Amino acid sequence: MGFAIEVMKAEDIPEVVEVERACFTMPWPASAYKRELKNPKSTRYLVARHYLDNSPPLFKPEIEFHTNNGREKKHGLWHSLLPFFFKDEEGTEYIRNPNPVIGYGGVWLMMDEAHITTLGVSPEYRGKAIGEFLLVGLIDVAMQLGASWLTLEVRVSNTVAQNLYRKYTFKEAGVRRKYYTDNNEDAYIMWSEEITKPAFQEKYAILKKELFERLETEGHLAAKVDSNVPLVKPEDFPSNEETDPPPAPPIIATQPTYEEVQKREQTT
Ligand SMILES: CC(C)(COP(=O)(O)OP(=O)(O)OC[C@H]1O[C@@H](n2cnc3c(N)ncnc32)[C@H](O)[C@@H]1OP(=O)(O)O)[C@@H](O)C(=O)NCCC(=O)NCCS
Repeated sequence: MGFAIEVMKAEDIPEVVEVERACFTMPWPASAYKRELKNPKSTRYLVARHYLDNSPPLFKPEIEFHTNNGREKKHGLWHSLLPFFFKDEEGTEYIRNPNPVIGYGGVWLMMDEAHITTLGVSPEYRGKAIGEFLLVGLIDVAMQLGASWLTLEVRVSNTVAQNLYRKYTFKEAGVRRKYYTDNNEDAYIMWSEEITKPAFQEKYAILKKELFERLETEGHLAAKVDSNVPLVKPEDFPSNEETDPPPAPPIIATQPTYEEVQKREQTT
């Protein structure tokens, strides 16, 4: 039993969208995540999963049920009784993994900058180091992608997230005025220290070790993790050759809508 960080898969998206809705006022639709996962050359998305049984990594829902194409399919009584079936907004049905997604995050590599596009933890799981566990996963991934810095936008009022980022060397480097269109709130632009430099890597090694020790002491690790190795391996992500699509407009921020971010990127 405990938490694990894993590569986000297509079948995780409906759960990710549920967590996202609990985290943000302007959640991205499932289609945005589907698109993100099809661009593995420069994007990396992770989930935090809570393993409720004793056996980590485990339930792989191989069966992706039919797409309804707008028409409701009849499944019979047995289907309606099973609480672990669910449907995304396009009508694709999935079996709900009994070990729920409780957080997620992603990075987008642009040149040598890893942009944290999103990070969220289910409200009932906050304060248990899961956000930090995910951030460490994203930093590991940024290093694997050859990034030199991490950057992100965060609401000026979001001191919880800012504290997490500051812990990992991020500092405010500017403000995007009225960045969030729901309430016209400003965003801080935050940058990490240069992650390829020994000064960062020494601090990072200590923070990561302390985090893993905390998770282990609190009995929150689904499987043993070694602070000397990345949380996810590059080969865990789908290969570029198979799925590399034409270049997509980059996205940068966390809470603006997917369309807003795309529009902004196209005009800058
Ligand atoms: C931001 C968020 C991801 C943090 O996740 P979390 O799992 O609750 O955070 P953690 O338990 O891993 O805490 C990591 C650090 O965050 C900061 N933090 C967490 N909870 C805090 C709180 N209640 N008050 C102040 N700082 C807090 C601390 O620096 C903490 O480090 P510490 O444990 O050494 O003190 C989570 O609050 C969330 O999903 N918020 C809504 C979505 C969001 O704002 N995402 C970020 C957008 S940029």
